[in-house]
Amino acid sequence: MPSLSTITDLANLKVEPHNKLKMDKAMPTLLDQTASKIVGQPINRLHGNLKVCGQATFTAEYHLDGQLYGVLVCSTIGKGEVIELITETALKSPDVVDIIVDFETFIRNPQQGGQKSAPAQGTDKITYLGQPIALAVAKTLEAATEAAKAVQVRYKDDSDNGAFDFEAEKANSVMMDGVPIKKQGEPEEALADAEISVDKVYYTPSQSNSPIEPHASLATWQDDELTLYTSNQMLAPCKQQMADALGIKADKVRLISRFIGGGFGSKLGIAPESVAAAVAAKKLGKPVLVVMTRPQVMETTVRRSNTEQRIGLGADKDGKIHTIIHDSTITNLPKEVFFEPTALSTPFLYAGENRQIKYKMVRMNQVLAGSMRAPGEAVGQIAIECAMDELAEKVGLDPIELRILNEPEKDPSKDIPYSTRQLVACMQTGAEKFGWDQRRTRPASVRDGEWFVGMGMAVACRVNHLQKSQARVTLTLNDEKLLGVEATIETDMTDIGTGTYTVLAQIAADMLGLPIDHISVQLGDTDLPPGSGSGGSVGAASSGSSVYLACEKLRELIAEQVGLDADTVQLDNGIVIRKAASSDNKDDQNQDDQNQDDSSLVDTIKSAAEEKAKAIATDVAEKIATKAGLAVERKEKPQFGDDDQRPLHQVIAQCQDNTLKALGEIKPGKTEKDYRQGCYGANFVEVGVHAYTGEIRLRRMTGVFTAGRILNHKAATSQCYGGMVFGIGSALMEEIVHDKRNGRLCNHDLAEYHLPVNADVPQLDVVLLEEDDQYTNPIHIKGIGETAISGAAAAIANAVYNATGIRVYDFPIKLDKLIDQLPDLPETATDATTAMSA
Ligand code: MOS
Repeated sequence: MPSLSTITDLANLKVEPHNKLKMDKAMPTLLDQTASKIVGQPINRLHGNLKVCGQATFTAEYHLDGQLYGVLVCSTIGKGEVIELITETALKSPDVVDIIVDFETFIRNPQQGGQKSAPAQGTDKITYLGQPIALAVAKTLEAATEAAKAVQVRYKDDSDNGAFDFEAEKANSVMMDGVPIKKQGEPEEALADAEISVDKVYYTPSQSNSPIEPHASLATWQDDELTLYTSNQMLAPCKQQMADALGIKADKVRLISRFIGGGFGSKLGIAPESVAAAVAAKKLGKPVLVVMTRPQVMETTVRRSNTEQRIGLGADKDGKIHTIIHDSTITNLPKEVFFEPTALSTPFLYAGENRQIKYKMVRMNQVLAGSMRAPGEAVGQIAIECAMDELAEKVGLDPIELRILNEPEKDPSKDIPYSTRQLVACMQTGAEKFGWDQRRTRPASVRDGEWFVGMGMAVACRVNHLQKSQARVTLTLNDEKLLGVEATIETDMTDIGTGTYTVLAQIAADMLGLPIDHISVQLGDTDLPPGSGSGGSVGAASSGSSVYLACEKLRELIAEQVGLDADTVQLDNGIVIRKAASSDNKDDQNQDDQNQDDSSLVDTIKSAAEEKAKAIATDVAEKIATKAGLAVERKEKPQFGDDDQRPLHQVIAQCQDNTLKALGEIKPGKTEKDYRQGCYGANFVEVGVHAYTGEIRLRRMTGVFTAGRILNHKAATSQCYGGMVFGIGSALMEEIVHDKRNGRLCNHDLAEYHLPVNADVPQLDVVLLEEDDQYTNPIHIKGIGETAISGAAAAIANAVYNATGIRVYDFPIKLDKLIDQLPDLPETATDATTAMSA
């Protein structure tokens, strides 16, 4: 297999056929023209049966001959230095092999997403409680666990100088390098002069990613080459991080993550168990498996930063917003560059000529703050959307009307158009489905027995991006398949439970005219072409586009083989045919017309120029090829009659090695700068708040979202359920409690860190509006994963206010924050059952 550097090396012309696209302009999509329409269908996960039967092998389930077990020894102080490790007792047990100490190489904390270098090393310096120090290795997990406990660590304890108490440390907040204040107009002045304003501070606590599969790595060396079975979201950067941490070349590292039990951002970079396993395996000459315990996942990987957000909204008396201020204070370990980007969508969510976005960082000796599902928007929109609810009340407008009134025509910060934006449609559809017209404006005016009942809404908004991503698709003969041919997708893209395997297969199935069971998908191995990985909701769009582009190239190659042009070839159920003329194919034609209408004259001119450039480039390449003695084959063009049909397997049988393959590559381009790309939605919630105890129960929740085309309605809907449930946790339960004396994570397991369980989740209703976005990528999709969580918690908070008249600014909203303010249950209150059926 050629390495990537050779694939991209122009001097080497023995390149495999490829199709590379930089998204510089609107692109039509062939998905409109395929014979089958598997894309979009709610088909089941390809590996669903394997997973529920326990047959999908996750990292901790691999077993290699002679494998040893490692358990991390973690710091019990929050700041200081390690003086000495006393290991005699730990080494006494017959099954214990070694206590591995390598202060220089071990990593102190995980790496942030996408980085190419190792995270902080030097584990003798303690920067937070829970930081790894050493690894106890034994023949059994039990012996390793006991040994890790028996290691005694002598510290120089500097906890007196530790930063453990946010309130106390806030005074030391600093601006970060490279994160200047963003300012338009005169926000502070305009807010002070506003006819109507809201100026409030919201607090959201640290939260734990804690995916269902704990972080785990199994390291094995063959000479100087490391293979690491691990649980990572983004393999290509993680491979570089591993190499950098170990001081070896990246081509000596292979990462394998075929199945991943969630990540939520905590597996974007390598975590401490990976380097520890690799160091131990090298030293001991045997494979070493390290699986974090649940408390270690929570104490030694990633949290979402707590935030303190000031939202200032200034409007005229009619509710027209002219000023938006979003100032955030967030936390992280010393020197870490990541900051919770709370105001990611603040520049473009609502209209307004005065705007300010400011971040201040407080350095804390607490577990690393990093990406957690919808970093930024998930908590940033809690603040913005609660403030909008308050403004609506002050202006005397319905919350939806206020938002419609402040709907911008263009991105108000950059003066660029939106690629697509259906926020108003999401709100209106949601209002109708949910029955928003039955909401009583006056708080605490609806009851159901001993419960106050209220309704709230908030919008969802999340930026959309594309990442460079590659995939190879290979067509081969396979007698076991009904149509005699099989397509194999290869990319180091991951499936963290989102359904990547399935949606990539759907794209290839339509593009190649094959049933889904004729597509095999190989993911999660750095020996495969590097994909985007799973993060920032870019995975499906980026890796899906690379698969699409590889398939597009295969269609061209097939067309060439049979004597058709690329734009006349149609692949239908294993048969190559000429694409039907417009009369037989009205839908396609209409769609073409539509695309034509949509693309501006400029685009047309641009694309003509690019076609020409392409032709010249091909010509040049051929000339160079001839010079290099690699004559470009020029065969006699075969004939293909109008009614001809050629089985695809016959075509493949005529190809060299009975194989046809192509590499696809997508890259972000100008459309990301020229068009504001985002996903939009709206969440609607009905809550009950118990009039005497303050207990809060969700009664129902409706979410309406847009994310371009939907690849798989079942998988996309599941993503939205997940986001809405995250919103419930964020509004009502989730909160890391750090001990203010030493930073210890007091609630470091899933018994004490409260998450919504089934009984906390009411009927969730998800609607995905139709959308098509030709500026995002050649498959016209947007990232759905992190959209539904954004703002979901605000909808709940706003419903709690509508139910009780109490606004809580300090999340999560728990009964103790309501109980002493609850109004009396008025006898005249409208009974919910009457109100709801009215
Ligand atoms: Mo996501 S927080 O970008 O994995």
